[in-house]
Amino acid sequence: MAGITADQARDRIIVALDCDRVRALELADMLQGSARWLKIGMTLYYTEGPAIVAELKKRGFKIFLDLKLHDIPHQIRGAAASIASTGADMLTIHACGGAEMAKAAIEGAAAGAAGELPAILAVTVLTSMDDETLQTVGVDSDAQSQVKRLAALACGSGANGVVASPLEAAMLRELLGPDALIVTPGVRPAGSAAGDQARIATPSAAISAGASHVVIGRPITQAGDPAAAFEAIVEEIIAG
Ligand code: C5P
Repeated sequence: MAGITADQARDRIIVALDCDRVRALELADMLQGSARWLKIGMTLYYTEGPAIVAELKKRGFKIFLDLKLHDIPHQIRGAAASIASTGADMLTIHACGGAEMAKAAIEGAAAGAAGELPAILAVTVLTSMDDETLQTVGVDSDAQSQVKRLAALACGSGANGVVASPLEAAMLRELLGPDALIVTPGVRPAGSAAGDQARIATPSAAISAGASHVVIGRPITQAGDPAAAFEAIVEEIIAG
């Protein structure tokens, strides 16, 4: 992408650690000096708890703790405070929990954070759901309209941005303005295996479309040399 430096590109790639603790720490050691962001999801966190966040923070990484909170505001306030107290730098909530739930997450995060406040990202419509699946849970609008509605609701309630498909990034950038975080999984470097991801874009295409950050897991974590795979993505973003 024109004008982006290698350092700026490194700040915009989040490596998804969908593995156990031993492998997570091994990957962290291999990626030290190149990657800055790591994503911890439910599987790793529910096994290891706040200690895994602390271990990775100690190695200098920023942490995206992707637990997709969805509950009554009182419970979410406490959960967000607890997550913020781990030192996580980004957390996720479900936008369909409504404005009060989003506000409770923001209040909780502010109450729990020891230092800088974590960014709060909203998940709109899970990319595993299509128009038909939405109908089965009582949502009559199509997925794209629902994504727009929930993104506007969450960000209008104070969330810092959304998690979205790269194919929704341009539409969301226009809707949410220049400052919103738009974090996109479903990203594959040209020529790498799609795996179970269906609607994909390359890292540079996702960023050109408006993504502030791209989440990339297996193309990096399953590479023979994860640091080299990471740096190749940095180069691809710069060349854009
Ligand atoms: O290995 P891969 O690059 O597919 O990993 C993508 C990461 O982003 C995984 O942790 C996955 O759970 C997450 N994710 C996703 N699609 C979403 C939301 C999260 O792939 N819609």
